[in-house]
Amino acid sequence: MSERPVAVVIGGTGYLGDAIVRAFRDGGWDAVAASRSSEDIHDRVDVTSRDSVRALMEQVRTKRGRIDAVVHAASPRLERVKPGAATSTAHAEVTVEGTKHAIDEAVAHHVPIVIVVTSEAAASDPERLSMGSYPNAKRAQEELVAASSAEHPGTLFFTVAPGFLPGGLNSDLPAAIQHAFSKRPDGGTNTREEVARTILAIATDRERYLTSGRVRPVDGTHAPF
Ligand SMILES: NC(=O)c1ccc[n+]([C@@H]2O[C@H](COP(=O)([O-])OP(=O)(O)OC[C@H]3O[C@@H](n4cnc5c(N)ncnc54)[C@H](OP(=O)(O)O)[C@@H]3O)[C@@H](O)[C@H]2O)c1
Repeated sequence: MSERPVAVVIGGTGYLGDAIVRAFRDGGWDAVAASRSSEDIHDRVDVTSRDSVRALMEQVRTKRGRIDAVVHAASPRLERVKPGAATSTAHAEVTVEGTKHAIDEAVAHHVPIVIVVTSEAAASDPERLSMGSYPNAKRAQEELVAASSAEHPGTLFFTVAPGFLPGGLNSDLPAAIQHAFSKRPDGGTNTREEVARTILAIATDRERYLTSGRVRPVDGTHAPF
């Protein structure tokens, strides 16, 4: 049994996921960086498959003896298309169904807290954003987490919605646009480390929370930790 608390970070090999894994490890946790391309074959997961998520959780429980937090930070690439254009089903599968699989398996394995990374785009008008099904999928993801917290009162559920970050899903945009969109009112730049710190603080201090919650946005106008 691991003496350190254990976090499973789905999407832990991505831009934001990597920062979350590092924050947990720096904070004294044992963090599993899980995705389809994880270096360790045992940490690989396809969140669109419930069987795959179940196998991951069982493997972590067998090897470490405990799971103290599950973080969902997986996402397909963005589709930069005009509003109303046809898009793939990837966001429905990874963002919405994947969240359901992560939640159901976390509850089945008695994980005390589930933190789902959404996006400030969920609160924006999808017609104004050329991001295909992403904003609607993010909105559905937030609704699913809210419904799950009502359904499973024994588990804490949090959504954390970053504002625009330079890198990751936005790395296809010109550098000047990434820079401009990630500027904060105080002149600084939004960072993935700030989002990661927020997630770590929620997981570490979970005894403080009596109810599930939403943290939005994490972008310098409102960075709670
Ligand atoms: N970047 C931003 O500006 C920004 C802003 C707000 C919110 N967010 C949110 O932050 C989260 C992470 O975004 P990011 O920028 O870090 O994206 P990213 O760098 O593209 O990382 C995506 C991660 O998801 C994994 N993934 C994709 N499909 C998967 C699947 N079927 N099963 C398991 N893992 C899968 C990827 O690994 P594999 O492909 O190897 O599986 C990768 O580890 C997303 O929820 C996104 O909406 C990002």
